[in-house]
Amino acid sequence: MRNNAVSIETVVVQKVIDLKVMALAVLIFLVIGVSSAWTSRAHAADTNELYKQSCATCHGAGVLGAPKAGDTAAWSARLKAGIPALVKHTKEGYKNMPARGLCNTCTDDDYANLIKLMAK
Ligand code: HEC
Repeated sequence: MRNNAVSIETVVVQKVIDLKVMALAVLIFLVIGVSSAWTSRAHAADTNELYKQSCATCHGAGVLGAPKAGDTAAWSARLKAGIPALVKHTKEGYKNMPARGLCNTCTDDDYANLIKLMAK
């Protein structure tokens, strides 16, 4: 009889622990899901971060003849083509500039913002 009572108690305790573990697992998944959604949204909006992650590799120091960020003279000649044309060149590649400029997740708006940032 006592053995039975103990085992039922053990089962109940075990079930409670299972539920807690499950609740914890669900909570962890929620936290990870929410935080990754948050970082990817912040990522898309932060032009400075995108610049550092991709364009700076070449446009920071002028690698391969890339117009340097902040070199307004170098950019003003290119800006005459208009932002849409420059966005198109960024996506398709242009001479030594590789297509998409190392940013595969960038949208047209991101590219336009990056170009404006570098041309300043
Ligand atoms: C691997 C090096 C490299 C990376 C990375 C790179 N670029 Fe370039 N980019 C170049 C080079 C080199 C040129 C100059 C091409 C030429 O006119 O000879 C250039 C030119 C450009 C131009 C001018 C195109 C034109 O029509 O005159 C734009 C706009 C541009 N890059 C945007 C970007 C953006 C935005 C990024 C980041 C998302 C980026 N680039 C990343 C190398 C790079």
